[in-house]
Amino acid sequence: WPFHAPYVKAINELKKQRNAVILAHNYQTPEIYNCVADVVGDSLQLARVAEQSEADVIVQGGVHFMAETSKILSPDKTVLIPDREAGCSLAASITGEDVRALKRKYPGVPVVAYVNTSAEVKAEVDICCTSSNAVKIVESLGVDTVIMVPDRFLAANVARQTKVKIIAWHGACEVHERFTPEELLAYREAEPGLELIAHPECPPEVVDVCDFSGSTAAMIDYVKTRRPQKVLLVTECSMADNVAAETPGVNFIRPCNLCPHMKRITLPKILDSLVHMRDEVVIDPTLAARARRSVERMIAVK
Ligand code: 13P
Ligand code: SF4
Repeated sequence: WPFHAPYVKAINELKKQRNAVILAHNYQTPEIYNCVADVVGDSLQLARVAEQSEADVIVQGGVHFMAETSKILSPDKTVLIPDREAGCSLAASITGEDVRALKRKYPGVPVVAYVNTSAEVKAEVDICCTSSNAVKIVESLGVDTVIMVPDRFLAANVARQTKVKIIAWHGACEVHERFTPEELLAYREAEPGLELIAHPECPPEVVDVCDFSGSTAAMIDYVKTRRPQKVLLVTECSMADNVAAETPGVNFIRPCNLCPHMKRITLPKILDSLVHMRDEVVIDPTLAARARRSVERMIAVK
């Protein structure tokens, strides 16, 4: 990638000067994932690293709620997001006031928030979860009913794996809600032996026609350990590029649904971010402390 090389060199040099780390989500493009990221992973893995990192600066290769989570967990570090417009349809679907209204409607029922939410929402809830620990978190509360926000599909997929009753919000991921069982069954018919693995932000009827469902990290593990001959990752499309580079011999069949928010993060913007130390994620310290309780409670659940 000759076009990328000068950016990669400049970013890696500046990272050293600034004692910065780049935490990149599995949906970042290959040049970010392979050439400048210090750590790659799913939301839970990135949160754990943000909490423990010794760096002075975190540059988030991901969307705004992920950068906020890093800041919540590392309030003394400078956390930079290379494009502050990198949002998320799930995070945008619910406000702190919406959570307060839910709590008034269902008094005493604990609220679990998917990490794909704003700091303001995290500050209002009892505990956070990610796609890799959602069932465990719901069951850790020891109650028979929980409210789960904001992803109605993740909530429905979790509800099928637990006896706990789940009251869901109506949000959805604009990438995963687009997959349909019909489309996937057509791929299965056209590609004998195809394995389908889905992210739990997909509708349950999509998960039903797949062979496995799990977080982005769990999906990567599945491909790395089982080495299917042919696989379709029912998730954001850049991930197949990243996994394909690490699993030669596996044939990736792909419908390409891209997350427009994740794709706002580019090498030039990462470089600009490190040169000018922008955009810095700032969260009111009192709000951040309340949000931290919910994220730390999640991290403490083993
Ligand atoms: P995970 O990487 O935690 O599975 O989350 C997926 C996602 O949608 C991030 O935007
Ligand atoms: Fe949000 Fe979906 Fe994009 Fe993930 S893929 S950041 S859940 S819109």
